Amino acid sequence: MDQRSIVVVESSPRKAGNSSLLARRLIEGAGSAGARVEEFALRGLKVGPCIACDSCRRPGARGCVVPDDMQAIYAAIRAAEAVVLASPVYWFSVNAQLKALIDRLYAFGAEKYAALAGKRFAAILVFGDRDIYESGGINAVRSVEDMCRFLGAARPEFLYGSADKAGEIAGNAELMARAYELGKRLASE
Ligand SMILES: Cc1cc2nc3c(=O)[nH]c(=O)nc-3n(C[C@H](O)[C@H](O)[C@H](O)COP(=O)(O)O)c2cc1C
Repeated sequence: MDQRSIVVVESSPRKAGNSSLLARRLIEGAGSAGARVEEFALRGLKVGPCIACDSCRRPGARGCVVPDDMQAIYAAIRAAEAVVLASPVYWFSVNAQLKALIDRLYAFGAEKYAALAGKRFAAILVFGDRDIYESGGINAVRSVEDMCRFLGAARPEFLYGSADKAGEIAGNAELMARAYELGKRLASE
């Protein structure tokens, strides 16, 4: 089988963040199944918000004109078969860092809303509260589902759990194992 290409974007400001650890475990699983993985940690990159200039919507436009690190992420997503977004839940949804990136996908919407057709999507969410409803993580689920539908991607898969202190999620062996398995599946199925 051809080598799969997977893009993983993680948005925790904490290097040992819980969502980052799950993303890394997923990457290990994907790597074990032979995928080529490109990882973007937003804490070290500049991805500004959409400025609504609509340059991406002009006839003959060639994408977003904002000259920051999102340009490399656009290219990687275009080339990938699967995309994984990992975020802490902040104020009942994805954090601002990931929301900025999602807003910038507006530029893909210029392509008849099919820029992500055929790509698989998954999202990793970690919240401090007890479950996906109490934490507000459910809003992030809904927003990623809507984004995928709008851009023609496959229905996303979700992996989520509760943890608060940085690194705490490593003690959740079951969730860490599921992250590894999800990586393997994205790489092979
Ligand atoms: C600014 C901020 C907002 C937060 N908002 C929520 C929230 O709405 N719901 C929740 O369950 N946890 C919330 N938390 C807790 C984080 O989701 C939790 O600490 C999580 O483990 C962070 O993930 P990370 O380690 O990947 O950064 C918030 C934390 C911060 C710093």
